[in-house]
Amino acid sequence: MNAPTMEGLRLNVPAYVKHARLIAWVAEIAALTEAAEVYWCDGSQAEYDRLCDELVAKGTFKRLNPAKRANSFLACSDPSDVARVEDRTFICSRTKDEAGPTNHWMAPDEMRALLQTGDQALFRGSMKGRTMYVVPFSMGPLGSPIAHIGVELSDSAYVAVNMRLMTRMGKGALEVLGDDGHFVPCVHTVGAPLQAGQADSAWPCNPSTKYIVHYPETREIWSYGSGYGGNALLGKKCFALRIASTMGRDQGWLAEHMLILGVTNPQGVKRHVAAAFPSACGKTNFAMLIPPAGFEGWKVTTIGDDIAWIKPGADGRLRAINPEAGYFGVAPGTNTLTNPNCMASLDRDVIFTNVALTDDGDVWWEGLTAEAPAHLIDWQGKDWTPHDAKVDGRKAAHPNARFTIAATNNPALDAEWDNPEGVVIDAFIFGGRRSTTVPLVTQARNWVEGVYMAATMGSETTAAAFGQQGVVRRDPFAMLPFMGYNMSDYFAHWLKMGAQLGAQAPAIFCVNWFRKGADGKFVWPGYGENMRVLAWMLDRLDGKVEGSDNAFGVSPKYDEIHWGGLPFTHAHFETVTHIDKADWAAELKLHDELFAQLALRLPAELPATKAAIAQRLGL
Ligand code: GTP
Ligand code: SPV
Ligand code: MN
Repeated sequence: MNAPTMEGLRLNVPAYVKHARLIAWVAEIAALTEAAEVYWCDGSQAEYDRLCDELVAKGTFKRLNPAKRANSFLACSDPSDVARVEDRTFICSRTKDEAGPTNHWMAPDEMRALLQTGDQALFRGSMKGRTMYVVPFSMGPLGSPIAHIGVELSDSAYVAVNMRLMTRMGKGALEVLGDDGHFVPCVHTVGAPLQAGQADSAWPCNPSTKYIVHYPETREIWSYGSGYGGNALLGKKCFALRIASTMGRDQGWLAEHMLILGVTNPQGVKRHVAAAFPSACGKTNFAMLIPPAGFEGWKVTTIGDDIAWIKPGADGRLRAINPEAGYFGVAPGTNTLTNPNCMASLDRDVIFTNVALTDDGDVWWEGLTAEAPAHLIDWQGKDWTPHDAKVDGRKAAHPNARFTIAATNNPALDAEWDNPEGVVIDAFIFGGRRSTTVPLVTQARNWVEGVYMAATMGSETTAAAFGQQGVVRRDPFAMLPFMGYNMSDYFAHWLKMGAQLGAQAPAIFCVNWFRKGADGKFVWPGYGENMRVLAWMLDRLDGKVEGSDNAFGVSPKYDEIHWGGLPFTHAHFETVTHIDKADWAAELKLHDELFAQLALRLPAELPATKAAIAQRLGL
């Protein structure tokens, strides 16, 4: 079908597309946005290469020196468009209560008027002068019973190529969809229409107006004004977390901000854990962990680094898939010592965003090497020398600079990563970034205590979201920015899942890699050394260590951690595990504040657990 629309625009529908509803929707959005052209992505390598060449010609991409990094590119964004915009993110459920007190809400009709239907609606004419890319994608292995299909319409070629690395994108997804399958419609515009003759900028976006909008009832996503990460790659946070969490609530499964890893011991016994840490708090690093000295014969493999979809299987155990097919990871802090697997993944076929450019056409970011190169072009295109960092702390790379790679770049990729059935989860881990208060590791004594730990988790804010950094906020389940419905109902959903799983429920642990000493430095060495904590957890699962009871769970005794190769004294251990009564009195007040905010629908088990903890602490 190549019929012109009312405006004479050709839809360019490929012959293999037979889905009438999809075609009608594409026509409708093309008409609304007045896109100059419509292009259907097939997901092929040739298409990827061509779009990348076009992005180079436009100035959005710089091709990196192929001798340094084959087939890799650098994009630098507009300074107004560097991270997720939580303030501009809306859950437009029927009622405000359904979105809950932790989400921004607007009535669906009101939002639709603003975006689509009103005379001045933002999407009207928003793609003028631009190509609208039709990006079909599968979240999860093609055809998996756990997977779901989405189609993103975007006026950004940067989005199209990133989606090819991040998802199973193109023809294959359309084949799964057939001629009548269900898909989640995702509409994205950078919000920068071009008038005739107007020159484009290298990173088009709308510096002043942004809306990241979800309609949970109709499972739709509308994103306006940003071209960056989670704001624009709509399969990721918008679909796989916010919309999928509501699907999970309705259908009895979980969509979580979790990495999934496999860990195999020297005897060949393999376990799987899923871990929820807030944004920029260590998921990618933990998922790619290389066991340190003293752990010869152990192996950690990656199933996913950011999102897990988790469902009870026929045997009553939880099975998880990674809905994504690539990683959109934090660059700063990544190096060959902290994460060698990640560095190896970045050798070729990478899209970097907002890192610095070296004089020999390669990339650099803070933490890549101990010493910075003598000269760089920073992420804003300005000359940069180490002197600039000394004078005013100017960073060469933006703190939320990222890389995009296909999962298949990862040398530690798990053999099961693409298994449509998923992997059985043995344990959940929750962990925030806390310089004080929260000990290195604690195991919940039961599911309810684990849900309490996850629900009350606090973390210091990071550069992954626009706004103030380093402020402790409650980030329940690391899902605060990603919840598609009422947070209290989500706690209830977790409690219900636990009750259903019964004895088959995974163990729940809580970790904190980020406690600091009096000198302001991290005490725990982190990264590969986190294996020591992981091994203690596995020993707990196997009943090999008894731990010691504390006010809110079970923590390791010093001698239960395998220290071979790491000089970590009793005194160090005390610094990262000590439970300070005054700190915890203050901490529990913050839990109370969260519970007060969520009071309307809060499950009674949570305040009851808090009361028991307070009593054990003698408060
Ligand atoms: P998102 O992609 O935003 O969801 O982040 P993430 O949770 O995957 O975090 P990532 O692994 O990318 O780490 C973010 C930052 O924390 C990087 O700068 C890492 O170097 C640093 N980091 C990760 N793990 C550790 C750790 O164990 N200890 C310390 N001190 N820093 C860590
Ligand atoms: C996060 O912020 O948790 C990310 C990056 O994983 S983004 O895709 O931009 O949301
Ligand atoms: Mn994330």
